[in-house]
Amino acid sequence: MSREAALAGVRVVIDAGPTYEDIDPVRFLGNRSSGKMGFAVADAAVQAGAEVTLIAGPVALPTPAGVARRVDVRSALQMRDAVMRAVDGADIFIATAAVADWRVAEYSSRKIKKGPSGAPVLELVENPDILAEVAARTPRPFVVGFAAETDHVAEHAREKLVRKGLDMLAANHVNENIGIGADDNALELIWPGGSESLPRASKAELAKALVARIAARFHAQLRARA
Ligand code: C5P
Repeated sequence: MSREAALAGVRVVIDAGPTYEDIDPVRFLGNRSSGKMGFAVADAAVQAGAEVTLIAGPVALPTPAGVARRVDVRSALQMRDAVMRAVDGADIFIATAAVADWRVAEYSSRKIKKGPSGAPVLELVENPDILAEVAARTPRPFVVGFAAETDHVAEHAREKLVRKGLDMLAANHVNENIGIGADDNALELIWPGGSESLPRASKAELAKALVARIAARFHAQLRARA
């Protein structure tokens, strides 16, 4: 099979970008994810022949040509709803999104005023782990997670792969030059029984290499089950 057709007819769902957790009508909690890696993965999956659904948090990126569906969301709860709907009947789920770990316990529909009583204390509650929820479904797609790590990358990645029940995990080395928000990245790929380092390259090149590895593992798993 040629690399270009490695995912012909395969339904792939990708989430990308940050989520914004609103505090009141003008303020939110966010993070520095640009969505570039996820959009590059969507582009590479299209090039490999996949039917791609892209669930995007708040990003300033054009939809890669050939993406079948793009769903724009803002918060983690909206992203979870959109992902759960999209993964029904999907073959592969790739979770590149930097989902906010917490949201405010109570959204204020009025702008919180500065006042004599001082700074407000925000109570936070945990967001659902979208990736782990997809991995826990039966039947479930082939599930690929991302992990941004600053240290002990391989060790933390292996632990996350097992804990979340994933088929593959792509760990980012994050520092000020690569990883979140940057144009370059480097990935440590881990799956049950193996691993591979993809050295520093542009996100587009890395996405292509990653999609090729995902396709190979996905087909190997299908063959093993046949
Ligand atoms: O545990 P950690 O946040 O490092 O895991 C990162 C992976 O889990 C990414 O693939 C991310 O998209 C996913 N994730 C998620 N929902 C969350 C938190 C992380 O899908 N609430």
